[in-house]
Amino acid sequence: MPQFGEGDASYQAAGGYEGIRQLVDDFYQTMDGFEGAAEVRRLYPEDLSEARDKLTRFLCGWLGGPRLYRERYGQISIPSFHARWAIHEAERDIWLSCMADAIERQDWSGAFKEYLMTQLRVPADRIVLASRAVRDL
Ligand code: HEM
Repeated sequence: MPQFGEGDASYQAAGGYEGIRQLVDDFYQTMDGFEGAAEVRRLYPEDLSEARDKLTRFLCGWLGGPRLYRERYGQISIPSFHARWAIHEAERDIWLSCMADAIERQDWSGAFKEYLMTQLRVPADRIVLASRAVRDL
């Protein structure tokens, strides 16, 4: 059994493109319907179709699968891209809790769910730092 971080093991554990797409759909459904997430939801456009496609494609590559985001949209630096918004700990925690909720709804092993949440906290923390850095200038 390969470690999740090796090769495309995480991409496979997530169920490939379809599995990641389902996660992202569930994530935005939670974001859309959960009143406590309104503060973050308002940062996104009304129509979430492109946001869904972008996050799905990004996560495919990020989990060791095909680099579908880069193929369609080019290079991205996650922290600097998000620095246009004031994303502090509160916004980060809302985003992560919508993700935790969506992850819980997937038919994945407990070990993979835990791994994925741990991994997602890394870029989420970097976003907060980058967002603060541009505002403190
Ligand atoms: C920390 C909390 C986060 C907040 C509040 C947040 C918020 C947002 C917002 C408002 C957008 C713009 C959507 C649009 O205009 O269509 C966006 C786009 C995106 N986010 Fe995040 N995000 C967070 C964390 C993350 C993390 C951890 C990742 C990656 C693991 C990520 C990946 C992306 C990607 C790939 C896009 C699309 C970029 C593009 O427009 O090309 N985000 N995010």
